[in-house]
Amino acid sequence: MSQPILSAKDVCLSFGGVVAADHIDFELHEGERLAVIGQNGAGKTTFINICTGYLKPDSGQIYFNGKAITGQSPRNIVRLGMGRSFQLPQLFVDHTVQQCLEIAAAARSGRLSWFTSLSKSVSEREVLETMELVGLRDQAHEISGALPEGHKKLLDVAMALMLRPKLIIMDEPTSGVSSEDKHGLMALIMQALDERQVTSWFVEHDVDIVSQYATRVAAWISGQIAADGSPSEVLNNPQIKKEVLGDTAC
Ligand SMILES: Nc1ncnc2c1ncn2[C@@H]1O[C@H](COP(=O)(O)OP(=O)(O)OP(=O)(O)O)[C@@H](O)[C@H]1O
Ligand SMILES: [Mg+2]
Repeated sequence: MSQPILSAKDVCLSFGGVVAADHIDFELHEGERLAVIGQNGAGKTTFINICTGYLKPDSGQIYFNGKAITGQSPRNIVRLGMGRSFQLPQLFVDHTVQQCLEIAAAARSGRLSWFTSLSKSVSEREVLETMELVGLRDQAHEISGALPEGHKKLLDVAMALMLRPKLIIMDEPTSGVSSEDKHGLMALIMQALDERQVTSWFVEHDVDIVSQYATRVAAWISGQIAADGSPSEVLNNPQIKKEVLGDTAC
C-alpha cells in the first residue's frame, strides 16, 4: 500500500488523571473516508486536536505525507494541506457567507496579496465556485451567524476547502442538525470532497450516516482505538455494539 497521508505512532496525552490518548497507532491513506465513532469523552476530539496542532501530545509522533508535524502550529499544519471543521462551526459570525470564504482565501494567500488584482480575481472565482460546490450560492449575502445549523456546517467545510487541503478532518459535521437534514448535508459534503479529491475523516454518532458514507470505521474507547476496519466489520463487532453503540441485546 502507498505511504499513508497521515500516521500516528504511539501517541499519548493525559489531562491530569484522564488518559485521553492512550498509545494510539493509526494510519490513514489517500482516498479513504474514515468515520470515527465513540461515546462522549472517548477521546475523538482530543486525537483530532493532536493531529491538527491544537494540542501537543505527551509522547509519540504525528506524520503528514511522511513528514513529522508533531507540535507544529495549526497554521503551519493547514499550510501543509490538512484542513478541519469543528464540532461547533468556527465562523466569522458577523460576516456574510461570501465574506467568510474571502477571508479564508486571504488567509491562504497571505492577507496583502488579496488586494493585488490577479490573486483577487483568482480567489473571487474560487469563492463563487466553492459556494456553488457546497450549495450555498443563494446564501452568499446572508450573515453566517444567522444561518440554520446545517448551512453553518457547510460553510465551515467550505472555509476549510478554500485552503485547498489534501485531507479534511471533520468533527461531528452533522451534530445539531435534524435527522431529516443530516443525509442531505452529508451528501453535499461528500460530493464536494469527491470533486476536490480530498481524503476525509469524520466523527459521527449516527450509525446510518456512518454506514452510508464511510469506507472504513474506527471505534474509540477510553482513549484507545478498540476496533478499526470495514463499516460492517466494526459496526457488527460485539464489543463495539455493546460499549459504543449501546446495544443492550449484546
Ligand atoms: N482541555 C482539556 N482539559 C481537561 N480535560 C480534557 C480537555 N479536553 C478533553 N478533556 C477530557 O479528555 C477526555 C476526552 O475528551 P474528548 O473531547 O476528546 O472526547 P470526545 O470523544 O470528543 O467526546 P464527545 O463525543 O463528547 O465530543 C474527556 O474525559 C474530557 O473531559
Ligand atoms: Mg468531541
